[in-house]
Order: sequence, then C-alpha cells, then structure tokens
Amino acid sequence: MEFLLVLCFLLGANSYTFVEYEMGLTEFPPVPSNSLKVNVSMNAITYLGPNIMFNCAHLSEFVAKNNLIHDVDPLAFNGTVISALYMTNNKLTTVPTLRVIADTLEFLGLIGNQIDDLTALRDLTKLVKVFLGRNMVSTVDPNVFDKLIHLENIYLTMNRITTLNWATSLTPPVTFNFNLKGNPVLEYCTCYLLHILQSLHSKVNIVGTCMNPSGNEISTGDFVAAAVCSATEYSQKDPE
Ligand SMILES: *[C@@H]1O[C@H](CO)[C@@H](O)[C@H](O)[C@H]1NC(C)=O
Ligand SMILES: *[C@@H]1O[C@H](CO)[C@@H](O)[C@H](O)[C@H]1NC(C)=O
Repeated sequence: MEFLLVLCFLLGANSYTFVEYEMGLTEFPPVPSNSLKVNVSMNAITYLGPNIMFNCAHLSEFVAKNNLIHDVDPLAFNGTVISALYMTNNKLTTVPTLRVIADTLEFLGLIGNQIDDLTALRDLTKLVKVFLGRNMVSTVDPNVFDKLIHLENIYLTMNRITTLNWATSLTPPVTFNFNLKGNPVLEYCTCYLLHILQSLHSKVNIVGTCMNPSGNEISTGDFVAAAVCSATEYSQKDPE
C-alpha cells in the first residue's frame, strides 16, 4: 500500500494515463491515480483484493482478459467510476459482487469463465450490455432482471440452459434481448420450443437458432413466424 501511494504521488494527477501491462504478473500491480483505463490482460493474476484502485477516481475502463482470476473482493473497484469492465477468459464461478460501481457500470464482459450464478447482476441497475457467453449457466432466476431498466442485451450464448420455463416468470415489460444461441434448449426446433417461444413472443425476445428436421439452422424469429409444427416430425426430442 505504501508503494502504491508513493507511486501515485510521483506520477501526480495532472494528466490521464492509459496503463497496459503484459508482464507475467501474478498479483495486481500498483496503478497510477490518474488512470482512465487499466488493462492487465494476458497475465496470471488470480485475485483482485479490496481497494486496489481506490484512489483512481477517474478510472472508467478495466480490462483483465486472459488471467486466472477466481475471486474478486466486493471492494476491489471501490473509489473508481468504471463503466466498462471486461474479464474474459478467467476462472470466475459467479458474477462478482460489483455493488461499489453499480452507479456507473454499463458494459460487463465475463465471457469464457465458469459462471453458473448470475445473482450479483441484480444490483447493477445501469447495465446496458452483459456478455456471458461460454460459461456454465444452466438456470436463470427471472427476478435478477427486475431493476435492470437500461438493459438492451444479455448474451448467454453457449451455456447450459435446458429450459425456458423461467422466462415465463420475467416481470414485464422486458425490453432487452436474451441471446441464447448454442444452449441445449434451442438445439432442435421442437413443438415444445415452438409453443414456449410463441407464449413468450410478446413478452421477451429470445434470440438464437435451432435445427429443423431437414438439418437446417433457422433463427428463433423465423421459426415462430413460420409456426410449423408437425407433432410426428418435431416432437421426438421434446423433454418429457
Ligand atoms: C489489452 O492488452 C492486451 C495485451 O496486453 C491487448 O492485446 C488488448 O488489445 C488490450 N485490450 C484493450 C481493450 O485495450
Ligand atoms: C473506498 O474508497 C474510498 C476512497 O475512494 C475510501 O475513503 C473508503 O474508505 C473505501 N471504503 C472502504 C469500505 O474501504
């Protein structure tokens, strides 16, 4: 901590910097207090502790792709005004608690982790886009989205979602798109899928593709529009 303070003092706060690191770091490095953007991608950092950038009052973008981060302290980003945070390809198993930046966070990128718990999204009321592709999400709690009134898109591509029953319990109006491409629930264009997409149609936009009996990938939108469902052809792969 002393070293951090000295460094910030030496660098002064009269100019904004863009900090980029790629140095085999295993721990988060001291960051100049005037940083606007920090990028520590391609290192081996495992943990983000409390107040690691507490004096970076103008920091608005944080990028830590391709590290080994499995834990983020709830106070890690305290003192910053981060609006875009990207931790693609790390070892996270839940969406981290980011309440300290809830007033500013608009873009959250957590692609390629091992996340199966989205609960912490609940507090992030300024979110516009959330990227959660290539994780391990199998169920979605519909209440998580109640206060996310600015949300435009949530990408849950290539996760493990097998049912859309949760979507029927979303609190309307749902003005954002759910991208569920590459999840088991959308794999085949079954009657079950058609019926549930039809029932959700006016409520929430589920984006993705499914495979029809001819082996063609068609978009969920086209599938619903065509509304073709021959029980004998389509029902074979329905869940029981
Ligand atoms: C972050 O740094 C990595 C490597 O150090 C670089 O490849 C990448 O383009 C940077 N990303 C952003 C968003 O600045
Ligand atoms: C959060 O950071 C501020 C400085 O930006 C500091 O004064 C405060 O003590 C920190 N909060 C906690 C709980 O550590």
